[in-house]
Amino acid sequence: MTVAPHPLAARWEERVMRAAHPLAYPLLRAARAPVRRVPGIGILVTDAALLRATLMNPASFTKTGPGSSADLWTPVLGPSVLINMDGDDHLLLRRKLGSLFVPSYVDALVAEQLAAATAALTRRLEGGEHVDIVAEVRHYASMMISQLVGIDAAALNDDLFRRVSSITGFVKLSRPRLTPAQVAEARATLGELTASAGLAYRAGGDSTVPGRMRSLGLTEAEAVGAVGAFVLAATETLVSYIPRLVAVLVDSGWFAGIAADRSLVEGAIAEGLRVTTPTPVMVRSVAAEDAIGPVAVHVGERVILATFAANRALGPFDPEQNVASTMRQLWFGAGTHFCIGAPLAMAQIRLALSALLDVGDLRIVSRRASRRVLIPSYSSLVVSRA
Ligand code: HEM
Repeated sequence: MTVAPHPLAARWEERVMRAAHPLAYPLLRAARAPVRRVPGIGILVTDAALLRATLMNPASFTKTGPGSSADLWTPVLGPSVLINMDGDDHLLLRRKLGSLFVPSYVDALVAEQLAAATAALTRRLEGGEHVDIVAEVRHYASMMISQLVGIDAAALNDDLFRRVSSITGFVKLSRPRLTPAQVAEARATLGELTASAGLAYRAGGDSTVPGRMRSLGLTEAEAVGAVGAFVLAATETLVSYIPRLVAVLVDSGWFAGIAADRSLVEGAIAEGLRVTTPTPVMVRSVAAEDAIGPVAVHVGERVILATFAANRALGPFDPEQNVASTMRQLWFGAGTHFCIGAPLAMAQIRLALSALLDVGDLRIVSRRASRRVLIPSYSSLVVSRA
């Protein structure tokens, strides 16, 4: 089937990005050169090949130097939590965690946690209910957090969830460190969750993720740190992506066609990830004199890899053409820091989307873009059966 590109999807995606970053987004978007210095921000890279080459060169471009993730997250999570590590230690921890994310384990984990809720979602929509997809996916995220930290989902109240979400909201492109007050608040919130993870680790057994980490040979500190990183990395990205995918599918006119022909689902998910790019930028610090394309870069400079711009340069959402298939999942990064949670993310996306496609067709009743957040998202997206 062929659906002509519909401008509504691109227009709403633009609004979601602008609402999140009213100052930085227009600035990044206006960049015409594939790589250039932007005063007060760093070296901006918007070309896919240069972006990938930078990610694949951890000797020159690190996550541990000035202005990188380490500056942000080490005060909150401690020194060894993947997102602020490089070199052999990082590789070793990735290896230990590897079998936690094999599709056979994550598919079963996601089905066990979410299958009843997603089946209920289909029934509610078929029954004519209006459903806020953002609230729905937040609920799934809470259930997954409870599994990650080894506590009962009922103990994860809305307030704790809101506080977890607010941590990423502290981060600004123009300010690469958190303030002491923000660090204290983030540590208090994550401390509640990681304390539970420590208990689950000590209890052992494969029924909780921390227990399984213990079986995989992680120390308690490594397991607790990894859980903190997972909670931070997993929550906002999925609460952003699944509603945006639904909006793109409805706005572009593809929803009913994909519901009828499920062979297009994988292309739709990949194209959705390409045009939305939930993690719009990645940051690195220059560790050795080098160059990105024609631009010489110097030790201590900050590099902003604008993945969203590289991804969108390939045109509008089109699951049939699926140009995303040429991008080697750049929206999940590349090289040693490639998203370790990608199989878990894909399992949740597939399950939620399948439940929605089972309804046949959807319409958007109302929506609101989130304002001034790190990960662009809808704060509500209410849908009903079309
Ligand atoms: C649509 C959903 C997601 C997107 C778009 C996404 C995107 C990314 C990207 C772009 C990176 C690389 C960052 C960099 O190189 O600077 C990354 C790393 C990471 N992601 Fe995801 N992610 C998603 C979901 C998840 C989930 C569900 C988890 C749960 C475990 C997760 C855990 C991580 C971790 C721990 C890292 C750091 C890996 C490392 O530094 O070695 N992500 N993610």
